[in-house]
Amino acid sequence: MIDFHSHFLPAIDDGSDCLNTSLSMLRESREQGVDLIFATPHFYADMDDPESFLARRDQAFSQLKLAMAEDGGDFPQILLGAEILYFPGMSVAEELYEMRMGQSPLLLIEPPMLPWSETMLDEIEQTGKNLRCIPVIAHVDRYARMLRDDTVFDKAFDRHFLVQVNANFFIHADSSKLALQYLSEERIHFIGSDCHDMDRRAPNMGPASVLIAEAGLEEQHIRLDSRLLDFLSEYT
Ligand SMILES: [Fe+2]
Repeated sequence: MIDFHSHFLPAIDDGSDCLNTSLSMLRESREQGVDLIFATPHFYADMDDPESFLARRDQAFSQLKLAMAEDGGDFPQILLGAEILYFPGMSVAEELYEMRMGQSPLLLIEPPMLPWSETMLDEIEQTGKNLRCIPVIAHVDRYARMLRDDTVFDKAFDRHFLVQVNANFFIHADSSKLALQYLSEERIHFIGSDCHDMDRRAPNMGPASVLIAEAGLEEQHIRLDSRLLDFLSEYT
């Protein structure tokens, strides 16, 4: 199973606060059946520049790899990416290309927690064209929930964006039915835990995959993961 969105790199954003937490998060993910996990630390263009962000990301990953080797435990395979907060002008920020998911052309973009404007969606679309990347809209379910606006899904579907949702979309009782419906309709392309810690935002791909399987949609979930693997192998 693949976890497409997570914050387990140590002390780089509001996710894992230290190496021990990172190791616990990875161990827990593995126990829940995660084979491959993407590290997607937050990138905020108004607070950081791409070069220093990438240097900090690489340094955090190097430290983590050493700690994993020392620990000797069973961990998922890790690929690097980023969760890029939308900003006006991102469509001409060529440095963002280095933040794509693994070696793939996928770029995980997080809209701000505000009503979605056509201008923003236009710019995200243009980012894909200019940077020759494929934008993926991060945790669309989170906007639906927090903005109390289900039309965000339609906005993403109408523009044929690739859609990532969080495991919570399947787990929360009030959204589970819709999550399973969208999965069965192949409108969801990636699932991530968006885990930040071992407490309130802990790894949770396992419970989501159980609910998916119980609804008879295990095949769909496997298909999502194998499509992503095919996609990654095309670019490595
Ligand atoms: Fe996130």
